[in-house]
Amino acid sequence: MEHLRAVKSPPEVALIQQAIDITEKGFRRILPFVKPGVWEYEIEAEFAHEFIRHRSRGFAYTPIIAAGANSCVLHYIENARQCREGDLLLMDVGAEYGNYAADMTRTIPVSGHFTPRQKQVYQAVLRVMRQATQMLKTGNLWEEYHKAVGEVMSEELINLGLLTIDEVKNAPEDRPAYKKYFMHGTSHHLGLDVHDLGHRYRPFAPGMVFTCEPGIYIREEGLGIRLENNILITETGQIDLMANIPVEPEEIETLMQV
Ligand code: GLY
Ligand code: MN
Ligand code: MN
Repeated sequence: MEHLRAVKSPPEVALIQQAIDITEKGFRRILPFVKPGVWEYEIEAEFAHEFIRHRSRGFAYTPIIAAGANSCVLHYIENARQCREGDLLLMDVGAEYGNYAADMTRTIPVSGHFTPRQKQVYQAVLRVMRQATQMLKTGNLWEEYHKAVGEVMSEELINLGLLTIDEVKNAPEDRPAYKKYFMHGTSHHLGLDVHDLGHRYRPFAPGMVFTCEPGIYIREEGLGIRLENNILITETGQIDLMANIPVEPEEIETLMQV
């Protein structure tokens, strides 16, 4: 089953795409809705409404709606805080459709505008996501992929002034320095389960669908940013199944101004 489920047939990809398209509708709905004073659970309710009215049965997994310092708590699911001016809001939310899951993360500014520092860290995460996506291709191996993404991330963290070159160089191989700010994996299989079955030593192959979800979590600044898209591996490269979901900071700011 592990081998069968890792490679999706075209009808399975179509169902994942449907789950993603419904997730996109939810995201576009909440962008003009989020304002200082709104509660995390109110945003969760907006997503639920939009999902169900598009014939999803609801969330593919318990959603994370995390404002301010909560964005640094990886499995924050209480969704019980009020969003405040100046907070970032991290949302890890996906619809289910026909038993298949979407798994999206977006991070937006509650006020509708990123501060220069928030945008600087956001752009770093976005660059890592873009580079990691390019490495999701046929023949690559899970472990080497994660190592390569770690190197890209380390460079970004050095440029942000969060790590020094020496800290990166001198860290033991099994405890790389970047883990202080990026302490989870970059990708997992996606399908019937959000964390779908797949063998870690099997090379990437056409039909596999992975998440790509780098993040930078700076607890001392109460600032956590993760971006997560879902990627289909093809014979010749990959297709970003979430290419239509806004991710550029300027587009997000524009869509929030209503
Ligand atoms: N939503 C769970 C995950 O991103 O892995
Ligand atoms: Mn997720
Ligand atoms: Mn994920």
